[in-house]
Amino acid sequence: MAEKADKHELYEISVQDVENEVDFLQTTFNQIRGRDAHLLREDFCGTASACCQWVKQGEAFQAIGIDIDPDVLQWGRDNRLAKLDTVDRARVQLLESDVRTAATPKVDVLTAFNFSYFIFDTRDALREYFEKARDALVDDGVLFLDMFGGPEAQEEQKEKTKYKKHGFSYVWHQETFHPVTHFIRCHIHFNFRDGSKMKKAFTYEWRLWTAPEILEILAEAGFAKSGIYWEGTDEDGDGDGEFTPEEKGEADLAWIAYIVAEK
Ligand SMILES: C[S@@+](CC[C@H](N)C(=O)[O-])C[C@H]1O[C@@H](n2cnc3c(N)ncnc32)[C@H](O)[C@@H]1O
Repeated sequence: MAEKADKHELYEISVQDVENEVDFLQTTFNQIRGRDAHLLREDFCGTASACCQWVKQGEAFQAIGIDIDPDVLQWGRDNRLAKLDTVDRARVQLLESDVRTAATPKVDVLTAFNFSYFIFDTRDALREYFEKARDALVDDGVLFLDMFGGPEAQEEQKEKTKYKKHGFSYVWHQETFHPVTHFIRCHIHFNFRDGSKMKKAFTYEWRLWTAPEILEILAEAGFAKSGIYWEGTDEDGDGDGEFTPEEKGEADLAWIAYIVAEK
């Protein structure tokens, strides 16, 4: 099963929910700016699934996806853009580029999701990226980021999630964490029902940024207002997928949150 599996399909089943993501972007943008966002720039777009979901909103919606890796972009063209109607596909543009040097028209919404901007591991590098992102926005544009944290984010551990229907488990492996620098090396592995494994399907080397650091650096980069959107809980105390503005947060062991930065 491991040999036949496609790691990008498994990744998206495990860690991406582009329908909810686009819904959150559009609802939140509307709440803040009182209008629809039409042009999206998806930094670190990988397979460009969010771009594809974005243009499905209708003919007024366009998306630009940027990734440095030609292979993942080609996979996205073959497997995600190819599934769109021709008219929708024409409104997605993919750019093979470093997000720091990509030249794009000014966009309403810019996203950097699944913690991708954690590759910038100094305050200067992160500020420089945020400045470029701010420049890429229209005057009332909004930057959306996500982050993870909590004491468990600083543990060297593995966490397994079973996807029974699909016959595999997703393993999030925090292999190395250095408390002095906040360097973190993580892998994604996939284990299959037949016992076969796809080890290190993806590896990330990041700086584990904290919420106050990110908010301070966004302000230094010129964003007028930035805030954290925290996830609500259901009756069992599990995350309910609803994110709302939060000043303080809660001392959960592990959490993910959105960051919304207004130009
Ligand atoms: C964690 S994946 C994110 C995929 C997708 N955006 C998501 O939300 O799941 C990180 C992606 O960033 C790309 N990447 C890494 N450094 C980059 C850079 N400097 N500029 C553009 N893309 C970069 C990688 O090729 C990879 O596809």
